[in-house]
Amino acid sequence: MITRTLPESIAYSKPKPRGPEAMDALKIKGGKALKGSVRVGGAKNAALPIIAATLLAEGENTITNMPALADVDTMAKLLAMMGAEVDKREKGVLRIATDKLKDFEAPYDLVRTMRASVLVLGPLLARYGQCRVSLPGGCAIGARPIDQHLKGLTALGADITLVHGYVEAKASRLKGTTFIFDVNTVTGTENVLMAAVLARGETVLRNAALEPEVVDLANALRSMGAEIEGDGTTDIRVVGREGLSPMKHAVMPDRIEAGTFAAAAAMSGGDVLVEGGVLSHLGAVADKLRDAGAKLTQEAGGYRVIGPKRLKAIDFTTAPYPGFATDMQAQLMAAMAVAEGSSVVRETVFENRYMHVPEMTRLGADITIDGNVAVVRGVEKLMGATVMATDLRASASLVLSGLVAEGETVVRRIYHLDRGYAALEKKLAGLGAEITRFSE
Ligand code: EPZ
Repeated sequence: MITRTLPESIAYSKPKPRGPEAMDALKIKGGKALKGSVRVGGAKNAALPIIAATLLAEGENTITNMPALADVDTMAKLLAMMGAEVDKREKGVLRIATDKLKDFEAPYDLVRTMRASVLVLGPLLARYGQCRVSLPGGCAIGARPIDQHLKGLTALGADITLVHGYVEAKASRLKGTTFIFDVNTVTGTENVLMAAVLARGETVLRNAALEPEVVDLANALRSMGAEIEGDGTTDIRVVGREGLSPMKHAVMPDRIEAGTFAAAAAMSGGDVLVEGGVLSHLGAVADKLRDAGAKLTQEAGGYRVIGPKRLKAIDFTTAPYPGFATDMQAQLMAAMAVAEGSSVVRETVFENRYMHVPEMTRLGADITIDGNVAVVRGVEKLMGATVMATDLRASASLVLSGLVAEGETVVRRIYHLDRGYAALEKKLAGLGAEITRFSE
């Protein structure tokens, strides 16, 4: 046993409290144009349903290009709590076997921290015929009901009751049907799709979500032997199987992480290659960045974004894919805060997704909100200040604002950021930003 005598200072330093008061924060010194290339990680919003899909088959599932995100850890922990064998030893690779599940419950304390946990409903019902999943409750950006998930599973023959805040669901064998979603829902489409692949007979999902993450899930399910076509369109057709084999799948690149770097390059007058980025995944966001004066070109290894001296203000309205992604609204608003002219932003997907605005105002942004409309009057310069992250994409927009603000910006409570971005500060520093993480 090697005994080391610690220098005086370390020997007696009080251990840092690791309670909530010891949260991490980011310190940013603004004014640098971002240059160079940055690799995009696997997509959070594809990885989460794909991890849930491993509940559908026996044997060991192998998922690669798995991003190192808090939400991915939470989903893997949920499956492990149910009895799945989860192996994360190899970086970027997740191996999951779900044959020895001992219970079929997603508890409130976990679901309330990550609502995507409800994605275990469909696969548990399809494979095990039972589950008990806490209703997620609301979150910072809105009420976020799951009525469409439950309606779709009921249409497939599930018997669903709500008891003490939990969804209790049973199904002997799900039966294929035609189901029309009342609203466009990404995880609703994914939940019902995962149930349909083991249902008896054919299922047609109409008014389905078109997001690329739905297509990536469908690809993972096809690697298990599922028969699916029409994913990426409004009508998805599934022929149910008696059983599936374990998946081997590489998660698609994260289009929102990529879009966040694109916005950062565009608003800082930078020149960045977003490695692994697929321009078509940005949908209307790419067009809007071009309208604002940025140049975006798809190259072999990803897409290149060149920002002008100063962006021009443009209007945008969020909508389901391929419309302007709501997950990019806060980031583009940060870009418009320093653009030339005024921009009208409309958030139509979630009812409360302007939590970043009061914090941006502290940085000197000039933004007026009226219902779901925000008018952003571009200012010459933002001024560094201490701001508070409130939700995942809001925190990203505060980091972007800090990159262009004069002086020093501190973004607190960045555990929100860690849910959807892996080591964002390291990636931005690699592009020349002056940014460091510290524990308050
Ligand atoms: C997914 O959330 C994403 N999350 C969200 O990303 C994203 O913002 C959202 O889709 C929209 O693109 C994951 O994929 C894990 P919805 P989801 O169901 O599926 C209403 C991020 O930052 N609705 O498409 O929960 C709902 O209230 C996160 O990465 C119902 O009314 O979103 C909302 O107004 C944030 N009933 C609208 O539909 C339902 O049963 C769209 O929600 C379901 C949804």
